[in-house]
Amino acid sequence: MIIPNNIKNIVILTGAGISAESGIKTFRDHGGLWENYDIMDVASVEGFNKDPKLVYEFYNARRAQLQKPEISPNAAHLALAELEKKFKGRVTIVTQNVDNLHERAGSHNILHMHGELLKMRCTKSLKVFAITGELNQSTVCPCCKVVGNLRPNIVWFGEVPNGLSEIDQLLRECDLFISIGTSGEVYPAASFVMAAKQSGAHTLEQNLSPTKLSREFDSQFTGSASIEVPRLVKLILSP
Ligand code: OAD
Repeated sequence: MIIPNNIKNIVILTGAGISAESGIKTFRDHGGLWENYDIMDVASVEGFNKDPKLVYEFYNARRAQLQKPEISPNAAHLALAELEKKFKGRVTIVTQNVDNLHERAGSHNILHMHGELLKMRCTKSLKVFAITGELNQSTVCPCCKVVGNLRPNIVWFGEVPNGLSEIDQLLRECDLFISIGTSGEVYPAASFVMAAKQSGAHTLEQNLSPTKLSREFDSQFTGSASIEVPRLVKLILSP
């Protein structure tokens, strides 16, 4: 596998597959989250308005799981943190994941395009607050001092992901684009490989198996993220 020389700006898109070996379920694989829940019930404003209790409970359970002692970054998260530390140019992680495993592995330059589990948002002021415990209909909003104004700080279907103009700029400037552990089913993230290609970037896909977007990439690192991402990082750092 040849990684081009003179790479200066790397953009890495991550999805649920990078956290799978840390014990966090993906969405669309066998046994994934969307087998047990209807996406629109727990990941849309309509679902939240219809049954807020269900939505609060869904994210409370995921927030609690994320903080269990057995959940920790795996070798793939750690390798990306090492890349950011040692690479001479810029490394940016654009993640669709709402967990904090990139941060816990030591990465700093991270954009959470679909929000974060450990944050809640006031629907009136749009202010964002940290939360580690349960969020429910009786949680008092830190800014309004009343109940009922808070929601998980997650981007739901039909909502605009975070940081799109910054991501657009990063894709224009990147010369290496790497997609890790994402099915390519959800836009706009699924379109990033095309944007990176238009900027002339070399494109790599890492996944357990080919995806519907695989043919868009210049090369593949097929296998589990915990094995393939460290291998890829090693190649980038010592081409
Ligand atoms: P998906 O569940 O759609 O896809 C997970 C991908 O990870 C699949 O392509 C798997 O083959 C791959 N995978 C699984 N285990 C892996 C491993 N150990 N190593 C490498 N790859 C592995 O998850 P996403 O693509 O992240 O959005 O889903 C995108 C968005 O859809 C999510 O952010 C979420 C969801 O609905 C919102 O909730 C807004």
